[in-house]
Amino acid sequence: MNTDLLRSRITGTGSALPDTILTNADLEKMVDTNDEWIASRTGIRQRRIAGEGEFTSTFAVTASQRALEMAGVTADQIDLIILGTITPDFPFPATACIVQREIGASNAVAFDISAACSGFIYGLSIADKYIRTGAAKKVLVIGAEILSRIIDWTDRNTCILFGDGAGAAVVEACEGDTGILSSHIFSNGTYWDMLYQPGCGSRNPASISRTIDDQLYFLKMEGNDVFKHAVRCMNEAASTALNTNNMTPADISLFIPHQANRRIIDATARRLGLPPEKVFVNLDLYGNTSAASIPIALDEANRDHRMQHGDIVLLDAFGGGFTYGSVLMRW
Ligand code: ACO
Repeated sequence: MNTDLLRSRITGTGSALPDTILTNADLEKMVDTNDEWIASRTGIRQRRIAGEGEFTSTFAVTASQRALEMAGVTADQIDLIILGTITPDFPFPATACIVQREIGASNAVAFDISAACSGFIYGLSIADKYIRTGAAKKVLVIGAEILSRIIDWTDRNTCILFGDGAGAAVVEACEGDTGILSSHIFSNGTYWDMLYQPGCGSRNPASISRTIDDQLYFLKMEGNDVFKHAVRCMNEAASTALNTNNMTPADISLFIPHQANRRIIDATARRLGLPPEKVFVNLDLYGNTSAASIPIALDEANRDHRMQHGDIVLLDAFGGGFTYGSVLMRW
């Protein structure tokens, strides 16, 4: 195959969510908050919460199997598995390796990436590079999280925002004019401490006094500052993708942004001049599922036939690190 002509194309999508629904009304009983505040400030009405015996890999495996089935690809044909998560089953081995065994992808190389809410976009970008250089033909990209396990359920500033779930995409080498047109990933470590999990790494290893008593295990976020950076960075990532391809927002058929906050999505769409009908939103149902948010949304959009052959689709993410990025595709 001539690698100059190679492009990567998403040929299958899948997602998986826990059955348990935690509504804003449920949260009213847990912390000093109310449905009106949560809905108006974030757009979130409910989120899914993993149960006992369910792990990040549980949902990653199901989402992957659904994506493989849609693509008509068997697990042993996959040569690379990239899994974005900040809530892996274990610090090591990579959750991608656990998924590899569970789905039987015996010929794959498997690794995790830690790019918070941009994890799936980072993964797609890596997959695209591997495929365009001819180093891989079929790649499974997954975003999977159980954020409920690192949330302080007494902190109303954060516990209302997050949910659990997974999404996956099979990306295959193809020729022709459909597929990923370009991908763009960015990092800005200046602000790494605005959104992070202080405990359980090498700085603050497990201890009763630090990890438990000082609650370093929980996700910490400076919500207000993160919000401002999110709007600016998502706009930058989207504009870069459009400029690279000599396109304007009018060319976009569907915009699938990271589902963190309705106000961030609306502000980004407004700056791009996109009407609401071109913006995919499901965060009212699932909250912010970090790396899983875009692949879950992509799968729902795909199964709802929101994308027709030839449509221009823009994915756009922002997360802790800071990390951010975009992928522009012709569907
Ligand atoms: N219920 C009721 N009141 C609340 C709640 C709540 N759940 N949470 C905060 N408040 C109060 C605050 O205490 C504050 O009260 P005060 O004025 O008396 O001090 C007031 O509401 C306003 O608080 P703000 O923090 O200013 O509220 P804001 O409008 O900024 O919304 C939010 C907070 C929703 C967290 C927003 O800042 C946000 O979405 N930030 C970005 C999140 C994000 O995008 N993260 C990136 C990806 S996540 C990842 O990478 C894992």
